[in-house]
Amino acid sequence: MKENSVVQTLLDHKSIRRFIEKPVSDEIITTLVQAGQQAPFASQYYSVLLSRNAKRNPMHAPLLFTICVDSFKFEKIMAKRKWKLVTNDLTLLFFGIQDAALMAENMVVAGRSLGLGSCFLGNAPFRADQIAEEYNLPQRVFPLVQLVMGYPSEDPPRRPRYPLAYTLFEDRYPELTEALVDHAMQQMDEGYLAQDYYRSRQAKIPLTVDRKETFTYDDYSWTEHICRKWGQWFPDPADLYTQLEKRGFNIEKKR
Ligand SMILES: Cc1cc2nc3c(=O)[nH]c(=O)nc-3n(C[C@H](O)[C@H](O)[C@H](O)COP(=O)(O)O)c2cc1C
Repeated sequence: MKENSVVQTLLDHKSIRRFIEKPVSDEIITTLVQAGQQAPFASQYYSVLLSRNAKRNPMHAPLLFTICVDSFKFEKIMAKRKWKLVTNDLTLLFFGIQDAALMAENMVVAGRSLGLGSCFLGNAPFRADQIAEEYNLPQRVFPLVQLVMGYPSEDPPRRPRYPLAYTLFEDRYPELTEALVDHAMQQMDEGYLAQDYYRSRQAKIPLTVDRKETFTYDDYSWTEHICRKWGQWFPDPADLYTQLEKRGFNIEKKR
């Protein structure tokens, strides 16, 4: 594999969930956000909220960014140009989510290169109404994901990833043989077991569906964990639709 300092920074990524109290300077914050802004964009359909109140995030990090899909400020520009928005909200959200995610990940990488650690928090969409109230968000701004950041007080190992053969498919999607699937599962599960990841966190997801618990922390690992999430959580999209609607997005309607 080719190596240079950028590739090394990317390969060294690990989510950081514990931080020292040291504040982050304004100059670094500006650098992070400008590095984020330089990500490729379809239409810069995002805004970033910042809170420096460490009590406001579960990991007590000095910085909490909330990355939002923001149609409101774009619609201001459309109004000035005397254009009417006709694109449907589902399409806008598809593009907006990509813009916002690319921006956020640039911030993560820039942060790492400056000695900062970070971790995404994925529940923002499900409490979009609360966040909207906290930050006085106008309609048509939707909190997509939060990002805590600060100087790390832990240095966890790199977490496993799928093998390249389960990720990169050249020219045509391959037949996913049992051997290929098993190998991918094994790489993930053995990788996390070797780090005692779930046992050290006591992070087994309880079974709420009709299945008998057969796993202990000797064999409970990533593939079972992720199956328990997407095999049990959020069968009904109603909550998310409601959050979107409260923020002024309607993904089912033609404009
Ligand atoms: C969209 C998204 C949401 C996430 N939400 C959370 C979260 O709520 N809590 C958490 O501790 N980690 C969260 N993470 C971090 C992942 O758990 C982490 O990236 C993954 O386990 C891989 O570990 P690594 O980042 O250390 O390589 C989230 C990551 C993403 C991309």
